[in-house]
Amino acid sequence: MSSLKLLLVDDQADMRASIAQWFTLAGFEVEECSKAEQALGILSQEYTGVLLSDIKMPGMDGMELLQRTASIDQDIPVILITGHGDVPMAVEAMRHGAYDFLEKPFEPQYLVDVVKRAQEKRRLVLENRSLRARLANSTDIHRKLIGESPAMQRLKEEILDFAHTDAPVMITGETGTGKELVARALHEFGPRNDGPFVAINCPAVPESMFEAELFGHTAGAFTGASKARQGWIEAADKGIFFLDELSSLPIHLQPKLLRVLQEREIARVGSNKMTAVDFRPIAATNADLEKACDEGTFRQDLLYRLNTVEIKVPPLRNREQDALLLFETFEQTFCDINGTDMPALSPDDASFILSHDWPGNVRQLKNVAERHVIRNQKRRLSVREVMNNTEFETTDSGSLKSMMDIYETVLIRQALKRHKGNIAEAMSDLDLPRRTLNEKMSKLGIDRSEFF
Ligand SMILES: Nc1ncnc2c1ncn2[C@@H]1O[C@H](COP(=O)(O)OP(=O)(O)OP(=O)(O)O)[C@@H](O)[C@H]1O
Ligand SMILES: [Mg+2]
Repeated sequence: MSSLKLLLVDDQADMRASIAQWFTLAGFEVEECSKAEQALGILSQEYTGVLLSDIKMPGMDGMELLQRTASIDQDIPVILITGHGDVPMAVEAMRHGAYDFLEKPFEPQYLVDVVKRAQEKRRLVLENRSLRARLANSTDIHRKLIGESPAMQRLKEEILDFAHTDAPVMITGETGTGKELVARALHEFGPRNDGPFVAINCPAVPESMFEAELFGHTAGAFTGASKARQGWIEAADKGIFFLDELSSLPIHLQPKLLRVLQEREIARVGSNKMTAVDFRPIAATNADLEKACDEGTFRQDLLYRLNTVEIKVPPLRNREQDALLLFETFEQTFCDINGTDMPALSPDDASFILSHDWPGNVRQLKNVAERHVIRNQKRRLSVREVMNNTEFETTDSGSLKSMMDIYETVLIRQALKRHKGNIAEAMSDLDLPRRTLNEKMSKLGIDRSEFF
């Protein structure tokens, strides 16, 4: 950040022109304002330059501008120019935090030197701030994403690096690895963290509703659309728009989404009026989208728009000792919530946790940790026993078919109960495609609304 930047405020055009010329020659990028109010629109906490202002101006004067600047960022250096003999006013300005003041007439070179020193001070302040913010974020991210393996350390560094850009990110990884958590961390540790995080879970949206949900609609756009409604993309303005399970985005909507990503403006269904939206797209998938492109179920142009940056979330089996750390942390959290004692983990439990394959990754491990806490309140059970769901050993005998139905009913009901009726989460726990799960639920007479 070696650029020299000056914001110059003076109501007198000739004075402004000559000062601007000195500074341009000295290598500064100069912005000129004839009114103090204009300057306030340019200044922000990120402003990298120096403010140089005349004191006597009609409307807002230099003293008031100094005070208003301090309320934006008290570390922006302000240098004031006073008329001859205005010493008391200059003293007052210094007391209010001005970096320096100069009395007219002044030596151009002297003025340039003062501004250069102020510029260097500004550079140091900003550098210091960004270092401190990064340090604070790197402590926070360790609390949020548990894991100390090299694979997780790399992942956390990538998140902190990419959080500060505005490029689209594609998060890939097996089911339950923490893709959504990574998306939320990109939001939290980036400059859009004051803006919204709007997540849509593509497989959960009925295909007929998708377009209206994405883009919003006008009143009367279609049967049932009694009121105008904002879509998710509009809701994500100034924030992040997270497309989860992107492979389920209906193919006929893909060109429409591509256009929005290119133009950054949308029209609600039923209207031609374009509205600008400012959002950062982040997508996640556990499907192989290149393959989907080859098979014609996903558009390559959309994929290339969205995967400028790819973050790969490693499967749990590649994270060394992290499984144990995660298991203990989850147990501790559940015990804290339920006010129970933490069950002791035996060496066998530990080696089971570390050697197990965890096909459902962190989500599966989290469920097992929760069940282990709950079931250990009655009697001591190993993690392996909890995993193997010993309650089924005592089921009454019957035909294999009826036993299987009971077994499936119990497992599906448990998964729905755990996730309060959320189909996508239940699908992922049970590792079943949506259609299979739906068919089984209707065959077994399971109604998910029972679990909301
Ligand atoms: N490193 C981690 N530290 C703490 N919690 C984690 C970590 N990774 C995942 N989790 C937790 O595990 C659960 C699953 O994570 P998440 O929903 O982000 O996974 P996912 O990859 O999006 O899964 P799916 O493919 O099923 O959508 C969440 O409850 C999440 O908070
Ligand atoms: Mg997910």
